[in-house]
Amino acid sequence: MSESSSPRAASFPSSPGDPRVDVTQGGALLRSLTGPLARWLPRQRWFAGKGRPLAGLTLLSATELLPCDAPGYAPGLLHLLVRTRQSGPAPAAGDCYQLLLGVRAALPPDLMPALVGRPSEGPLRDRAVYEALYDPRLAAVLLERLRAPGRLGALRFDRAPGAEIPRGLTARALSGEQTNSSVVYGETHILKLFRRVSPGLHPDLELPRALAEAGCTRVPAPCAWFEASWPDGDGGGEPLTLGVLQPYLAGSSDGWQLALRSLGSRADFSAAAHALGRAMAEVHTALAQTLPTSVLDRGQLEQTATAMHDRLAQAAGAVPELRPYRTGLGRAYAALAGYARGGGDCLAQRLHGDLHLGQVLRRSGEAHWSVIDFEGEPARPLADRRLPGPPVRDIAGMLRSFDYAACQHPDGGSWAADWSRASRGAFCRGYAAASGFDPLSTPEVLRAYETDKAVYEVLYEARHRPHWLHVPMTAIRRLAAATP
Ligand SMILES: Nc1ncnc2c1ncn2[C@@H]1O[C@H](COP(=O)(O)OP(=O)(O)OP(=O)(O)O)[C@@H](O)[C@H]1O
Ligand SMILES: [Mg+2]
Repeated sequence: MSESSSPRAASFPSSPGDPRVDVTQGGALLRSLTGPLARWLPRQRWFAGKGRPLAGLTLLSATELLPCDAPGYAPGLLHLLVRTRQSGPAPAAGDCYQLLLGVRAALPPDLMPALVGRPSEGPLRDRAVYEALYDPRLAAVLLERLRAPGRLGALRFDRAPGAEIPRGLTARALSGEQTNSSVVYGETHILKLFRRVSPGLHPDLELPRALAEAGCTRVPAPCAWFEASWPDGDGGGEPLTLGVLQPYLAGSSDGWQLALRSLGSRADFSAAAHALGRAMAEVHTALAQTLPTSVLDRGQLEQTATAMHDRLAQAAGAVPELRPYRTGLGRAYAALAGYARGGGDCLAQRLHGDLHLGQVLRRSGEAHWSVIDFEGEPARPLADRRLPGPPVRDIAGMLRSFDYAACQHPDGGSWAADWSRASRGAFCRGYAAASGFDPLSTPEVLRAYETDKAVYEVLYEARHRPHWLHVPMTAIRRLAAATP
């Protein structure tokens, strides 16, 4: 749907503090919501367009899950898909976001932090519009919908055959800063709502569902999900995945917390890392058995090495600290190209895409690791995130994560470096034992992917968390000095 042809597009002043709303086209609902959303959206953690003024909104779909004009204090519930328009040097198509808004005549004090705003005009005039996920009563409506498959407006709710979803579970929104929004129901289920959405099957539904169907027990199996048909037949007719309900692993800690605990008590992590390597090998093996794979040939591996070189050049342009290591790091990519020229190839398959210690969970007292969050790197386009790649890419992500954890150790120094080395080795051995493929058997490939990841981290830390820059720089020095 083009913005200019949309009957439901609105623009607002570039100053977010200015309450005037310049409605350029119709849409009574949007007229109500444009001003409050213009101020609220850029403040959300999941809003991707930070730093560029919000210039307009298009309402792609609106679905009333509960009527918003009920008399008295009954809350209404609106599901919206909106596309943002942002001003900047190059006008971009804009991102599409999923919003769940509660509507009440008056907001109880405990819901005040969830307030989006009070529209000054249109059908929602003077009503309190708020983030519905923080209202357990409204979050419960969503669960009821997921329990009962079917269509509602643009939305379609589906449930896995045989999945048990009890009625009346108490809802609790997770408050941590995340890319998406999650609600825990009765400590038995968790619903993840994707915020920035695009057409196409979402890998965080696709991969766990494929793994569950393959009998892999490493991933909480999706029990229900919901999607929207892309308004006006745009988006190639592919539905947008909006949310996934899965079992909640109550009482679990993530690998990052467990690693820090191990470092804090100067305890060895090798056994846990070995078990983690086994778990990831099981996930990769099941993905390779159920979803398409290919073999990266000489040309593709050489192209990969060139793309890595280019990313290094770009990062070194932006981060002066990286420049002294360019030659050493470049040798890792040259070694990958040399491996390809020597006849080496590489399996490509569907991957986790953003593997690190924060993406694996273990219940207290149990040795079993579960893997979550298969969305890949959220900044990349959905279609890219669904492309097959070498398993070593995921492995390199986890190996880098051990290094990140070790750098959190208060004393740092050689003990933490030894902890990391031992954990990394154990992870690779566990992976090899369960899959038959030892990541260390193709050192050129592993080193190139690890280097590429560390270069990415340098750029990320320099831009967003300069006080963390020393973490990837430690790896950069090691990788640049290594002999291919
Ligand atoms: N099945 C589960 N059982 C228990 N806890 C879970 C489960 N799924 C997610 N969590 C918790 O919720 C948090 C957020 O989940 P997830 O990583 O899927 O969201 P996200 O929005 O993609 O986060 P991020 O911004 O870190 O990528 C996790 O760090 C974990 O603590
Ligand atoms: Mg994520």
